[in-house]
Amino acid sequence: MTEILSATEAGLDRAAELLRACGLVAFPTETVYGLGADATDARAVARIFEAKGRPQFNPLIVHLPDFDAARGTAHFDDAAERLAGAFWPGALTLVLPLKPSAGIAPLTTADLPSVGLRVPDHPLARDLLRRTDRPVAAPSANPSGRISPTSAHHVLAGLNGRIDAVLDGGTCPVGLESTIVATGPTPTLLRPGGLPVEAIEACLGTRLAAPGPEITAPGQQASHYAPAAPLRLEATAAHPGETLLGFGPIAADLNLSPTGDLVEAAANLFHHLHALDARHQPIAVSPIPDHGLGRAINDRLRRAAAPRPR
Ligand code: TXA
Ligand code: MG
Repeated sequence: MTEILSATEAGLDRAAELLRACGLVAFPTETVYGLGADATDARAVARIFEAKGRPQFNPLIVHLPDFDAARGTAHFDDAAERLAGAFWPGALTLVLPLKPSAGIAPLTTADLPSVGLRVPDHPLARDLLRRTDRPVAAPSANPSGRISPTSAHHVLAGLNGRIDAVLDGGTCPVGLESTIVATGPTPTLLRPGGLPVEAIEACLGTRLAAPGPEITAPGQQASHYAPAAPLRLEATAAHPGETLLGFGPIAADLNLSPTGDLVEAAANLFHHLHALDARHQPIAVSPIPDHGLGRAINDRLRRAAAPRPR
């Protein structure tokens, strides 16, 4: 059962308690309702993808209560400082170089070296983020492919029973997801959204670039990380010289989930790939069931195994 929490001290405390214990809590922001989880806990983040039925591990936006907390999570260049100063809290997500010391789980960023950060302009969201005292990863709180929710009622219509709680804060005033900008040498618009592009360009005194052809859709650039070693999928055993990344009750060098739990496997995926990659040997991977989170895991493994330019 999904708990419906009211916008009270008790409701906020309960929401924070659930988030700190690997729970999934939908909460209002000024743009849309987010489906929150502790961004430092890979298992909690894996549960987001499971609840949404997302077939890919898109990078998630990390929500923080204020600019100071954001500075501890990513490196801000001059343009990012200026935009955050002008528009935070607000409907702007900045994609910035991640600070590894921030402890963000690789699954949150789809293992990218960057992180999308946002300080929402909603009193309940900021209060909840302060109480939780962890960075909170949150995509829109709807099943994958469905319309983003702007009320607790919408959230429940899509996700009732699949998430731990929804904090009911009424209707979202903006009703459209945040605008996403990556700074760096060429400030780039990754997604138009609730903050007008003109306002961002006026603040920077320059036009925003369109994403390059390698980014066909938001989240697609998640396909960058591939291990240096070749990867062989659907392997029932390791060939000589290979290391085996197992799934289920088999002997393996590392196992995504000895019990065959897809949430656990998703949480372990990037950690285990990095660990095996460090051994500089070809990697064989057990078959993963192609349902639930298994689809996202297989999507990611196929990209990692695909032929790549040397
Ligand atoms: O208004 C919003 O942005 C809402 C509320 C809940 O904050 N959140 C939201 O999240 O719309 P979502 O998951 O629907 O959008 C996340 C998108 C990804 O698909 C990707 O395009 C972009 O944010 N993103 C996040 N991190 C990124 C990164 N490191 N690099 C590039 N894009 C990133
Ligand atoms: Mg969405």
